[in-house]
Amino acid sequence: MIKLGVLLSGSGSNLQAIIDAIAAGNLDASVALVVSSRPDAYGLKRAQAAGIPTVALSREVYNNQAAADELIANELNRANVNYVVMAGYMRKVTAPILNMFPNRVINIHPALLPSFAGAHGISDAWEYGVKVTGVTIHLANAEYDKGPIIAQEPVIILEDDTTETLEERIHAVEHELYPKVLQWFANDKVHLNEKTGKIDIL
Ligand code: GRF
Repeated sequence: MIKLGVLLSGSGSNLQAIIDAIAAGNLDASVALVVSSRPDAYGLKRAQAAGIPTVALSREVYNNQAAADELIANELNRANVNYVVMAGYMRKVTAPILNMFPNRVINIHPALLPSFAGAHGISDAWEYGVKVTGVTIHLANAEYDKGPIIAQEPVIILEDDTTETLEERIHAVEHELYPKVLQWFANDKVHLNEKTGKIDIL
């Protein structure tokens, strides 16, 4: 059983998928803490409804990233989390968190990295006109959206898609893939190969 700390900024549908997978017995984990970069994120309501302790950054703390990441790292440490799960966290994680949880910060990105990194993965892929996009789960490191890749799943862009229908299918894939990959962590299947810098799934 692994203990997760989830970082989010918005709706928290990925947090919900994790909560539901745990409740359904498909993920051997608990969510010990949810941290939101914004006090009005709907994800905080989902956490509270599931009885999970929450921390939200005040505007003052938010504006000072070094202080914010120091505070977040300490809260995650106090909650005894094993892994930090970024789920729609619209901020970079910096040294205080990365050093406290080396190779233990996981991010989900709504495109096939290294394509369409950044805050608008779905619409950037759509506007470029690619025929296949998808979802990437990777370890976060100091370089935004560039950490070693753990899992990817393609999503085909259909002739009659709109950004909305594409977005729905991407989210549906995310909600399946994130709990599945977290279960790999629970089973100790995910290993960073120090020689290649790549992830081996054992
Ligand atoms: C997801 O598409 C995730 O890939 C991206 O932000 C979105 C978060 O959605 N990083 P939600 O807050 O989990 O509903």
